[in-house]
Amino acid sequence: MCGITGYIGRDEALDRVLGGLQNLEYRGYDSAGVAVTEPADGDIAVYKRSGEVDQLLEAAPAESPSRCAIGHTRWSTHGPPTDANAHPHTDCAGRVAVVHNGIIENYERLQAELSEHTFTSDTDTEVIPHLLEDRLAAGDDPVAAVRAVSDRLEGSFAFCAIVEGFDGVVAVRNDSPLVLGHGEDGTYLASDVTAFLDRTRSVTYLENGDVAVLEDDVTLYRDGEAIEPAIETIEWDADAAEKGGYDHYMHKEIHEQPQALRQTISGRLEVDSGDVDLEVSFPTEHLNSIEEVQLVACGTSYYAGLYAARLLETLADVRASVTIASEYAFEGGRDPWRTLTIAVTQSGETADTLSAIRAADQAGARTMAVTNTLGSTVTREVDDSVFIRAGPEIGVAATKTFASQVATLALVAVHIGRRRGALSSGRASELLGNLRDVPGAVQQVLDAEPDVDAVAAEYADSDAFFFVGRAFAHPVALEGALKLKEISYDHAEGFAAGELKHGPLALVTDQTPVLATLTDGGDADKTYNNIKEVQARGAPVIAAASSSDDRQVNEHLSVPDVGLFEPLVANVYWQLFAYHVAADKGRPIDKPRNLAKSVTVE
Ligand code: F6R
Repeated sequence: MCGITGYIGRDEALDRVLGGLQNLEYRGYDSAGVAVTEPADGDIAVYKRSGEVDQLLEAAPAESPSRCAIGHTRWSTHGPPTDANAHPHTDCAGRVAVVHNGIIENYERLQAELSEHTFTSDTDTEVIPHLLEDRLAAGDDPVAAVRAVSDRLEGSFAFCAIVEGFDGVVAVRNDSPLVLGHGEDGTYLASDVTAFLDRTRSVTYLENGDVAVLEDDVTLYRDGEAIEPAIETIEWDADAAEKGGYDHYMHKEIHEQPQALRQTISGRLEVDSGDVDLEVSFPTEHLNSIEEVQLVACGTSYYAGLYAARLLETLADVRASVTIASEYAFEGGRDPWRTLTIAVTQSGETADTLSAIRAADQAGARTMAVTNTLGSTVTREVDDSVFIRAGPEIGVAATKTFASQVATLALVAVHIGRRRGALSSGRASELLGNLRDVPGAVQQVLDAEPDVDAVAAEYADSDAFFFVGRAFAHPVALEGALKLKEISYDHAEGFAAGELKHGPLALVTDQTPVLATLTDGGDADKTYNNIKEVQARGAPVIAAASSSDDRQVNEHLSVPDVGLFEPLVANVYWQLFAYHVAADKGRPIDKPRNLAKSVTVE
């Protein structure tokens, strides 16, 4: 996700802020920029570039006398990675500069209100400086203006502003993190402590709604009242700090899932009406004539595709197929004009998936990408792209992108179902309500991590691990097994629970734990029959089961009630299980042997 830095103090602010941006580089980004307040006249100067911080260093002056600056690394969600879309963004007169993280859900409405203003980017962020411009023109001081503008924004965000003639930075937090660093030479501000940990370890974490005003001193407002900032000391070492205090990126990314999912669905669903806004332009007549939705993908993305195919058939009344991309061919019996082919790829660069989507395009099918990466190759080759907005994923094993892919594809399924008239508003509303509750449900699972850690420690030395599930829990069984084998190197297999008795049961012993997903959307009663079969062979059973489930298993991990999305939430238990088994064995979790994050060969 994007990174924010800021500084005011005795030293050169440009140098401090650029250093902060370099410290945030490990997070992944596609553009960077800074804005400084010129001490001579209070003017604001902005430097920004798409690409690496190194490119920004070439664009910015080597030295600047400024003592006050803000900076940003962008990871695109609205508009491609270009110089114009990079932050900071300014108002019409260039008197206000803003850096922002998160998503402004109501930006289109606000932009329509600001019709007198000139917009120069595709971003949601740019409404902020223009709104500030109006408040300042109406006589607000910078702090009052930031407060007033923040009240008008919907979504999860954090932003910082500098204003011509005001020697300071004003920052506000609403669901996206912001932290202050109290250094000897001045005050730092960032979305992540890693930005300034080489300068100070004394920090204050902002809470939702807090407004921080950085001048010669810091003033922190909570509920409109100035409060004394609570100062904490960071004890992590540099390596752990880069991973936000976690030992591995994968662990951090597992824990980022509630936030990633909130970003995925932010501004896209109307629970009351059951409507979805995906900013894609399928002609309705095309949707009505579609006979088949094909999903093409590899690995974890293929499993997200399996989840989605079932959602499409259930919700959109359309035939849905999923093909491993390297096996794809546009085969007989299909009418290209009545086919929508969706490439599911977090990187947008997977060679097998690109090759499959090109074959679909050549055959004449309408094509779409569901991806995490704006500007990636796949987005340039398809008719429509929908972004999963999970933020950069660094660990080789995909975790948060799986969750965000499934959530995005669920929105696609509801969108198609509603547009085709196959899904009632009541049913859509119920599903979207469930989807809205998924981030909170995932958080509950994450809070139960010590239980999973204990279970992992108990079973880590087993001969093999079998994951089972039915319906929406089947792809989760496959994904659970893939995660475990990738990072722990243990033998793990995922099966449709009903298939055990057709062969794999021969492998089941008291040394092969069976990890079962027994939730809504996973045909739990029937799966339990299969569990009885493995229990009869002495296998211990670890179940991720609906909270009300009281069936006899060795370990019960409770899944909150979110309807068809319960298997998706259960998957977080399997991610944690894989992580702790691998950690117990001392595996190189973020870079498992023989594997790469982006597979660009066929
Ligand atoms: C597994 C994993 C891979 C990817 C696969 C496709 O943890 O990450 O299986 O899912 O290589 O990658 P994308 O989604 O980038 O096309």
